[in-house]
Amino acid sequence: MTLRFSIFTLFPEMFAGPFGESIIRRAIDSELVEIAIYDLRTWTHDRHRTADDRPYGGGAGMVLMAPPIVEGVEQEIGDKAARKFITSAGGRTFDQQLATELLTEIDIVLICGHYEGIDARAGELLGAEEISIGDYVLTGGELPAMVIVDAVTRLIPGVIDEESIVEESHQDGLVEYPHYTRPAEYRGLAVPPVLLSGHHAQIAAWRRQQSLERTRRRDQES
Ligand SMILES: C[S@@+](CC[C@H](N)C(=O)[O-])C[C@H]1O[C@@H](n2cnc3c(N)ncnc32)[C@H](O)[C@@H]1O
Repeated sequence: MTLRFSIFTLFPEMFAGPFGESIIRRAIDSELVEIAIYDLRTWTHDRHRTADDRPYGGGAGMVLMAPPIVEGVEQEIGDKAARKFITSAGGRTFDQQLATELLTEIDIVLICGHYEGIDARAGELLGAEEISIGDYVLTGGELPAMVIVDAVTRLIPGVIDEESIVEESHQDGLVEYPHYTRPAEYRGLAVPPVLLSGHHAQIAAWRRQQSLERTRRRDQES
């Protein structure tokens, strides 16, 4: 069954580049993933196609109105059993474990905030979870939506080489070992000799030890 992402945004054209190239593009072409981008202005109610307004209670910036979001998701998703997310800097942090968990879904909805954020009633009415891609504030939810689609799509069987995924960072709680390719020596730096030895067990042991070492260093730094 094809995994389908439905993305609701004020800026649909932002997605053309990232989804039009490389691995994600091939996954779409092979029908391993389907990505529908919806312009929230489709569900606005005035001739200016207004989708945002000033916040009740005052304060800086504009807030995305609930009606275009709620009506858009209701019309396009209906009563499909979709997992729905609103991108938010204050949401649950997206990680490799959640990316893997989402592989079991058929429909995933990503709602992109902008400006100061989204009227809280939209999420409440839609039963959407708030999701963040990290502890920093971006201008909008479009980049987070791209990150989520990318991280989940590359895990779909058939999208990339299964072996690459097994050994990757965060799959087993460790970060990956360092990689090297030709030339064997570059500006005085030689590739670690064990990698040229052809001795598979020793290479595996070296990589494991490097992986543990890098994970330990990373944990100390963060
Ligand atoms: C400028 S931000 C709003 C920040 C908000 N006023 C706050 O303090 O959390 C606009 C939109 O970008 C998205 N966004 C910003 N940072 C994000 C992050 N780290 N993860 C996910 N979405 C983010 C959200 O959709 C948010 O509504």
